Amino acid sequence: MTKSITMLGIETSCDETSVAVMRDGKLHSNIVSSQFVHGQYGGVVPELASRAHQKLMIPIVEEACAKANVVFAELSAVAGVRGPGLMGSLLVGLNFGKSFAYGLGIPFIGVNHMEAHIYSNFIDEPYPAFPLVCLTVSGGHTQLVLMRKDFSFELIGETRDDAAGEAFDKVAKLLGLGYPGGPKIDAHAKQGNPAAIDFPRSYLEGDAFGFSFSGIKTSVLYYMRDNHPNGISQQQLDDICASFQASVVDVLVNKTLLASKELGVKNIALAGGVSANSRLRSEMSRAALEAGLQLCIPKSEYCTDNAAMIAALGYRKYLRNSYSPLSETAVASLELAAHL
Ligand code: KG4
Ligand code: ZN
Repeated sequence: MTKSITMLGIETSCDETSVAVMRDGKLHSNIVSSQFVHGQYGGVVPELASRAHQKLMIPIVEEACAKANVVFAELSAVAGVRGPGLMGSLLVGLNFGKSFAYGLGIPFIGVNHMEAHIYSNFIDEPYPAFPLVCLTVSGGHTQLVLMRKDFSFELIGETRDDAAGEAFDKVAKLLGLGYPGGPKIDAHAKQGNPAAIDFPRSYLEGDAFGFSFSGIKTSVLYYMRDNHPNGISQQQLDDICASFQASVVDVLVNKTLLASKELGVKNIALAGGVSANSRLRSEMSRAALEAGLQLCIPKSEYCTDNAAMIAALGYRKYLRNSYSPLSETAVASLELAAHL
C-alpha cells in the first residue's frame, strides 16, 4: 500500500486565520477564523491582524488536525502562504509554518496566495481542464490569468486602480454598511432593481483585459450627494446596491468572455472573495452557457480566504518535490511567478 500524503495548509495573508488538512488531495478540514476586531475601524488594521494571528495560530492548527482526525506525526508537509498580503500577517503564518515543519522533520512549501485562489478550483472534483482563463477577484487584486497548464500563470489583465473587492468595500462604507462590504451589498442587492440607476461600465480603450473600478465608486458618491443629500429609504439603498453590483459584474463577465474568445480558450474559472458574489456567479454561469464555455466556480467558502486552497496547491507542489528552503521569506507584493 502506498503511503498517504497528508498536507497541512496555513493561510494568514490578511485578516483570516485559517488552517486546513488535506489527505491525498481530499479535504478533511478547513477551519477559518475571521477576525471581527477590524469591523469597528472600517477596515483591516495590520498590527491587530498579526497579533490576532499569533493568538489563533496554535489553537486553529490543533482544531484542524483534530477535526481531520490526524496527529502531527502523520503530517507529510506543511504549506504556508508567503505573499502577497500584509507583511506582519504573512510573517506570523510563514514563520510558524517553517518552524512547525522543521520541528517535525518534514518539508515546508511556500505558496503564493493568488495562485492558491486559482487552485480553489482544484479542491472538489470535477477539476477544470487546461488551457484555462481564470478571473481572480479579491479585496486586493483583480486579475485575468491564462493557465496553459498546471503551475503556469500568465497575467493577461489586471486592475489599474481599485480591485473589485475594494470597490465593494468602499461603496459599502460610503453607504454606511460597514466592513467587509461585499457580502452586505450582495444581500441588499437581492432586494433591489439592478436597472434602477445606470452607473458607468468602465471598458478601457486599448486595454481590453484591464480593469478600472475607482470611477464607479466616485459615481456612487456623486449620485448620493446629488440625489439623496438627506438620506435614503430602504428601497433606494437596495436599488443603489443592485445597480452598483450590476455595473461591476457586467464588466467582469464581459472581459472574461472576451479573453476566452480572443485566446480561443474554452475553459473559464472564477476565484477570490468577490467570486462569492451571487450575481457574479449567476451572470457568469448564464454567459458561459450561452457562449458554450465550461465554467468552474469554487464553493463560496473556498472563494474567500481559506487554507484549503493553500493545501490544494501545496499538495500539488509536494507531488513535484517543489519544496521551499527554510530561508524563504515573506513578500508583501509577491507576483504570480510559478513555473515548475
Ligand atoms: O479573497 P478575499 O477573501 O481576500 C483577499 O485576498 O483580498 O477577498 C475579500 C474581498 C472583500 O473585498 C470582500 O468585500 C469581497 O471579497 N467579498 C464579496 C463577497 N464576499 C466577499 N464581494 C462581493 N460579494 C460578495 N458576496
Ligand atoms: Zn485572498
